[in-house]
Amino acid sequence: MDKKLKIKKTETGQCEKDDLSRRKFLQTGLKVLGGLALLELGGASLLYLRARSLEGEFGGIITVGKVDEFSPGSVVEIEDANFYLVRDAEGGFMAIYRRCPHLGCTVNWISKKGKFYCPCHAASFDQHGEFNSQLVSRALDIFPVFFENGMVKVDTVQVQARPHHLSEHIVYKPEL
Ligand code: FES
Repeated sequence: MDKKLKIKKTETGQCEKDDLSRRKFLQTGLKVLGGLALLELGGASLLYLRARSLEGEFGGIITVGKVDEFSPGSVVEIEDANFYLVRDAEGGFMAIYRRCPHLGCTVNWISKKGKFYCPCHAASFDQHGEFNSQLVSRALDIFPVFFENGMVKVDTVQVQARPHHLSEHIVYKPEL
């Protein structure tokens, strides 16, 4: 009889212990998830505030100019903003970061050749930033382009690395 009771006690104790550790695990998991959600929210807010505080400067949102100021087939250096605004023959826009994906030198647009060149090790890229050299293994990075009230804007907070140029990287002003 005593033996049976002893066994019962042990089983009950084990269950309670399991329940406690499961509850503790779930509570800890919920706390971690809550913490992660707060961190993500905080990170997004900081990014937004940073973009706003740097509005007009590299690292923030830059208003480049009116859409019509950029003729199709043009490549315009945006001074102090570290990118070129490219408008292709079909009227689509791209903001191409001037940093070479090889070792980070500043690339230049050579209009006579219709290419971007890196002065450090002579890598070259076409008008869309696609690479033509074995030195580099990816296209030039880009920044998101968007339109507001007829103005072209570039979000220099978000550098977008890409293995190759794709047509979906070209942004067209939505028809009204
Ligand atoms: S840094 Fe541009 S080719 Fe090396």
